[in-house]
This record gives sequence, C-alpha cells and structure tokens, in this order.
Amino acid sequence: MNATPLKNELALIKEMFSGDVFKGRVMFDEPMKFHTSLGIGGPADVLTFPEDSASLKHVMKISRGYGVPFISVGKGTNIIVKDRGIRGIVICLTSFDDMEFGGDGVTINASAGQMLQGLISLSRAKGLSGIEGLSGIPGTLGGAIAGNAGAFGFEIKDVLVNVTMMDKEGDIKVLNRNDIAFGYRKADIPSSSVITRAVLRMSKDDPRDVSRRIDEYLSERRRTQPLGQRSAGCVFKNPPGISAGKLIDEAGLKGTQIGGIEVSNVHGNFFINRGNGISEEFLRLIDIVAQKVKERFGIVLELEVRIL
Ligand code: EPU
Repeated sequence: MNATPLKNELALIKEMFSGDVFKGRVMFDEPMKFHTSLGIGGPADVLTFPEDSASLKHVMKISRGYGVPFISVGKGTNIIVKDRGIRGIVICLTSFDDMEFGGDGVTINASAGQMLQGLISLSRAKGLSGIEGLSGIPGTLGGAIAGNAGAFGFEIKDVLVNVTMMDKEGDIKVLNRNDIAFGYRKADIPSSSVITRAVLRMSKDDPRDVSRRIDEYLSERRRTQPLGQRSAGCVFKNPPGISAGKLIDEAGLKGTQIGGIEVSNVHGNFFINRGNGISEEFLRLIDIVAQKVKERFGIVLELEVRIL
C-alpha cells in the first residue's frame, strides 16, 4: 500500500460511494482502534461496510478504477493495525450476516460476516456437532476461515464444504474445501479476494451433549485465557509440539509491559491493551518477547496475528 494517505482521489472516491449503487456504511479517515478487539490502530483512508454483493462489487470497482488497494477484515479480532493507519480501502463484511439451513438440517449456508459465536449458539440449539471447540472465539466466519481458526483440536476447515469469494474484478468464485490448502492457522485464500459466504456441514447430535461440550470448552477457555480483556488472541503460533504461551511464561515474561501493552498474567501468548496502548508498543513487545524466547530456548516464534 502507498505510504501517503489518499488526497486527490478522495473527493472522487467519496462521490462514488454517494450514489444509489452502494448500500452500507462508509467512513473516511476512520481510526481503526474503534474497529479492533485490541482497541489500537491508526486511521484507514476508507473503511466500508457494504451490505450486499452489488455494493461489494462496487467497492472493487472503485479500488480498480482509482488504483487504490483494498484489504478485507472481519471483526478485527486477530489484527494489529499500525499507528500510522491503513492506506487504501478496508472492507468489512459484518453487514453480510444472513444464514440459511439446507434441507438436511445439518448444512448451513452462511454469510462471511456472521459471527462465529452466532453459529455456536445455533449448533447448541439444534444439536449440531463440529465446531464446539471454537466456542468463545470472537470474530466472524469469514475471518475464521481466512485464518483457519481452531482450538481444542477443532478447526473451522473440518466443517467446511465450500467457500464463496469475490475477486478484485468483482467476479464470484466458489471453491470446494479440498481446493483450498489449509494449514495450522492458515488458508491459502488469495488476499486479492474477499470471502463472502461459506457452506458448513456439521453432524447431528443430542443438543444436550453439544451444549455440555460447548460449556466445557468455554469454561476451560475462561480458566486459561484473559477473555474479558482487550487482546488480539494468541500473538504467536505454537512452534511444533509446544505452547508459545508456555515458553513465554517459562522465560519469565508474563507481566512485561511496554507503555500500555502488557504480556497477560493469565496466558503468556496474549498481550493486553491496558487502555492507552499503541501499536508501536505492541510491536516492540513482540520483538522483546520473541528475542527473549530465542535467547532462552533457541526457538524462533512466528506471528499468528496479522499486522496491517
Ligand atoms: N501454559 C503455561 N503458561 C502460559 C500458557 C500456557 O504454562 O502462560 C501451559 C498450559 O498450562 C498448558 C500448555 O501450556 O499445559 C498449553 O496451554 P493451552 O492449553 O492454553 O494451549 P496453547 O497451546 O497455549 C492453543 C492455541 C489457542 C487455543 C488453545 C486451546 C495457538 C497459538 N494457541 O493455546 O488458540 O485457544 O490452544 O485449544 O495455537 C489463538 O489461536 O488465538 C489461540 C488462542
């Protein structure tokens, strides 16, 4: 993305959003700290919440027409937006939130902006098994797919049938699960495409059993993770066979603070914004923690959060 905020193009871009074609919200020079779970991040030139495919397609057209890059985000739960902000258009599909059941009662066709926890509630109510371990993970379905969200041995890819996306030309493509390479917290979805919907297939189970498992995972998560605090989830991926949080803990780094950002005392792989933290401090803390873990254990930690 360009280093300088959009200036010349901005008036024209504003006009493109003002017509009848685009339905949804659009904000200019909008601080991303209001749109991330961490509560940090500088302004995005354009932050847009299209409401339907035609509006999303219109955003792609604006992006192409003015040579302005776009990125898509979910609920902002796994990202660190730098203090200088984001040049270009940020697309957020949280207004894409419809959902319908297939005739078999176990298949769900859901929009990308559907909250993961909405799906968990549904699986609890209807006795659908397959995503219980994801209970308590904030964020949208689209974000969960883009990062192959997982916990307690569950991964979102395991219930996926297919994923619909729109590419930068505004064309829609449906990819079957097997055509997408999923790995640990990753999916090879091109960054030039936006996930718009997905079909999930769960399996039928007794609602009481599904509920019990969801409650168990949720209470385990509450016991081991700083759920009520401002974080971006796990900062680092786990190196093969070991918990990054455990390494950080054993290196004595819990509680380490840079400005308003602190390594959680509950789980070492969560960094907490204590209220007034900024991105620069978060990034410095990442470096310090990674460096100390490397010195102590000879292990290089890899980031799980996405830095924008
Ligand atoms: N541990 C410590 N100190 C800590 C943190 C953990 O000693 O500060 C120990 C625990 O006591 C436990 C072991 O490390 O014996 C593993 O900890 P935990 O069960 O919390 O799992 P984790 O490997 O640290 C992973 C995922 C989490 C996911 C949990 C539960 C990653 C990077 N982390 O954490 O995912 O919720 O398992 O399945 O894959 C995320 O992706 O954002 C995330 C938080």
